[in-house]
Amino acid sequence: MASYDVIIIGSGPGGYVCAIRCAQLGLKTAVVEGRETLGGTCLNVGCIPSKAMLHATEMLDEAEHNFAEMGLKGKSPSVDWAQMLKYKDKTISQNTGGIEFLFKKNKIEWLKGWGSIPEAGKVKVGEDTHEAKHIIIATGSEVAPLKGVEIDEETVVSSTGALELKKIPKKMVVIGAGVIGLELGSVYSRLGAEVTVVEFLDHITPGQDGEVQKTFQRMLKKQGMEFIMGAAVQSTTVKNGKATVAYKLRKDDSEHTLEADTVLLATGRRPYTEGLGLKEIGVETTDRGMVKTDDNFATSVKGIYAIGDCIAGPMLAHKAEDEGMALAEILAGQKGHVNYGVIPGVIYTHPEVAAVGKTEEALKEEGRKYKVGKFPFMGNARAKANFSGDGFVKIIADAETDRILGAHIIGPMAGDLIHEICVAMEFGAAAEDLARTCHAHPTYSEAVREAALACNDGPIHA
Ligand code: FAD
Ligand code: NAI
Repeated sequence: MASYDVIIIGSGPGGYVCAIRCAQLGLKTAVVEGRETLGGTCLNVGCIPSKAMLHATEMLDEAEHNFAEMGLKGKSPSVDWAQMLKYKDKTISQNTGGIEFLFKKNKIEWLKGWGSIPEAGKVKVGEDTHEAKHIIIATGSEVAPLKGVEIDEETVVSSTGALELKKIPKKMVVIGAGVIGLELGSVYSRLGAEVTVVEFLDHITPGQDGEVQKTFQRMLKKQGMEFIMGAAVQSTTVKNGKATVAYKLRKDDSEHTLEADTVLLATGRRPYTEGLGLKEIGVETTDRGMVKTDDNFATSVKGIYAIGDCIAGPMLAHKAEDEGMALAEILAGQKGHVNYGVIPGVIYTHPEVAAVGKTEEALKEEGRKYKVGKFPFMGNARAKANFSGDGFVKIIADAETDRILGAHIIGPMAGDLIHEICVAMEFGAAAEDLARTCHAHPTYSEAVREAALACNDGPIHA
């Protein structure tokens, strides 16, 4: 029986980052992972492969739409689907291999297999039982099922199947206009599929700033995606490799169907803790299967902790990573902490959508007084030159103190631009602080400064 300071179950962004931090802080650490490669959902079937496909198809789109105007002549590239999948797979293995290297470098042991917790202080992997002072559950999430929709990963797929389709569908129906549906829907739309998104609500990307939602949907429509809003999917049926999606419009209960070669179910994910034996040892979970934790990630059983997608909060890789680092620091006797008020969210479509902090809608509900500074990318020289003038930066600041409360960006490199606002928020900055910071010209980030200026005396270029 091997003995450790920490055993982490799951090697996703939560688990592997926690393990590296634990090792750096001098704790003897092992990670249990049942997959053949490390890195969890994110590296194997999530963030990384989806971003590779988004990048490849964005290049294709750029070539098809903008090359001629820039004086770059010649035939647009054609798609070699098998090669594109190979590129995606290589990206995955480079990243998962990287984690294996980091484990060796930090002397972290990989206990291969599926783990369970027979009692506090013990983790069982296959026939072996290991001891640990601290056990961390970092088992992530899985696709939440939808009644009437059976995933076969060929015709009716989850995001995992959508990342390895045998061929590019002619017609694709996406159920759910959330992050996965819009990212992967964009990939296939750019590859030439007719993509129809069926969404239960009357707006896309729930929780996002209302103005961003509208602008984003308009842009996606312009790119060729179709939307059926306020529609509850009832069932999918598959016959001879073709699917029929039945849905009801919420406004009048009328029933409709859509035909498709491929259906992508993207209506959310749920915590995954199967096989751990949590109930038997008394680790409390919510009705939705989330592991209950306190502010220090401790579960209801002493010595057992949980982080990442299997606990409350946004299901994001960087949120899981930050929790992993904070918990490692707590276990090493330091004061680990996650600021949940400043966790950015990014949708990697073209253009990107990024947000941090409060939306106007949330502030209105709280009854708080705020002001808004908005700047369109059309007023940004770099964006205009790069065919990226559509979209805007919106900064929300406290009406009296000018402290930044949130930011919402739709436009070029939004996912990178958001971070200067995150840092500003971490330091409790006012919009004026951002506005008085010199920004290099010509950069997209000047649009952030202009939005900050717009919170007070006004922007220069709009
Ligand atoms: P996971 O990454 O899910 O890892 C959990 C690991 O635990 C898995 O490898 C699993 O095999 C293992 N495991 C489970 N049970 C056991 C057991 N009993 N024994 C041993 N091992 C076990 N987030 C972003 O921030 N940015 C993105 O761009 C992004 N894109 C995404 C795209 C897609 C298609 C999907 C599906 C998700 C995406 N996400 C993205 C979400 C992101 O992947 C998750 O938030 C993140 O992976 C959560 O990390 P985690 O460590 O909590 O769990
Ligand atoms: P989601 O929660 O983002 O979106 C689900 C959508 O489906 C919502 O718009 C919802 O209203 C809709 N819906 C629910 N039931 C429906 C029904 N019966 N019919 C039609 N529509 C219905 O979930 P998604 O896209 O599956 O993503 C899961 C998680 O993965 C997210 O929580 C996200 O955080 C994470 N993720 C993050 C990414 C990123 O950070 N870029 C990329 C991909 C995933």
